[in-house]
Amino acid sequence: MSKQRIAVIPGDGIGPEITEATISILEAAGFQAEWVYLEAGLGAVDKGKPPVPQETIDAIRDIGTALKGPTTTPSGGGHSSANVTLRKALDLFANVRPARVLPGVKTVFGDRNLDLIIVRENTEDLYAGIEFMPQKDTALAIKVITREGSERLCKYALVMAREQGRKRVTAVHKANIMKMADGMFLDSFYRVAKEFPEIKCDDIIVDNCCMQLVTKPEQFDVLVTENLYGDIISDLCAGLVGGLGLAPGANIGENCAVFEAVHGSAPDIAGKGVANPTALLMSSIMMLRHLGRHDIADKIANSIMRVCSDGKCLTIDLGGKASTNEYKVEVIGQLA
Ligand code: NAI
Ligand code: MG
Repeated sequence: MSKQRIAVIPGDGIGPEITEATISILEAAGFQAEWVYLEAGLGAVDKGKPPVPQETIDAIRDIGTALKGPTTTPSGGGHSSANVTLRKALDLFANVRPARVLPGVKTVFGDRNLDLIIVRENTEDLYAGIEFMPQKDTALAIKVITREGSERLCKYALVMAREQGRKRVTAVHKANIMKMADGMFLDSFYRVAKEFPEIKCDDIIVDNCCMQLVTKPEQFDVLVTENLYGDIISDLCAGLVGGLGLAPGANIGENCAVFEAVHGSAPDIAGKGVANPTALLMSSIMMLRHLGRHDIADKIANSIMRVCSDGKCLTIDLGGKASTNEYKVEVIGQLA
């Protein structure tokens, strides 16, 4: 059998460090792949290329599966986001972000349990990139919500909930204010929900959702939402479960999927060898499950659990002293 091909974008900042650690652990766990390295982000721009070179898009489309480190996007001016470009070019419409407390990891709310999944729309909303200045000192940014985009996203979330035996799916919106855009998203959700009578479907306004996530997060199961709300809520949830170092994600399209952590390129700690690779490693576990390699996925997930609950080899963001490399070696050592 020929080797599974996986596209790899190491990315910027801590990206190459956590990508190296993740791939070493995948290989040590027995996942043999042909890793096809590709460029995107600041690294590409610095070489005079676009943030996502066409050959990167073509290769991912051809290979079908990619593991991606974070890429840097400057605020204000500068190049456009490699992530947004990639998600749109490959039509990766669903961004799946689980937030789960790992045993042994201290969280802001003690040892309470949290196990929810955010399904974020990934190609529309204010991320459509339609911004202009009709006059000096007035900037307009257009929020794009389509019926088709909303329905396919909600359907994806509900099918996923059904497959995973989840009981409740909650649409997060601001339809009280954006009556047309968010109103249509919400209407699309309830239309699709009719096909899933076994799942409790309800909705919540985004600001209340944030408050409830901080005070009573256990009540939620699956949250399905628009692009911007999903971006913000997923960082909030990452904070609840111990920080960005533990928050994985998957960008799913009809024909390909790109697996990456919720966090960014962390320029403040880049090059120091102290980044926590767990979020990208957990994203690679999502990749393995997507590829049907549950055996290896379970092996790595169990090792992460052992290392975290043991608590002796945690990275700095989790209150430990371990370097990226020490943590990597520990996770490899605990693979059973
Ligand atoms: P960030 O997520 O890179 O960092 C926020 C804070 O969390 C920093 O203090 C950082 O040190 C810490 N952190 C993040 N990941 C960590 C890890 N694995 N281990 C330990 N600590 C970690 O967010 P920030 O600073 O707002 O963005 C930096 C750059 O990343 C920006 O250019 C932004 O556009 C980009 N970005 C890229 C994303 C992607 O490629 N998917 C997602 C989010 C931001
Ligand atoms: Mg974000």
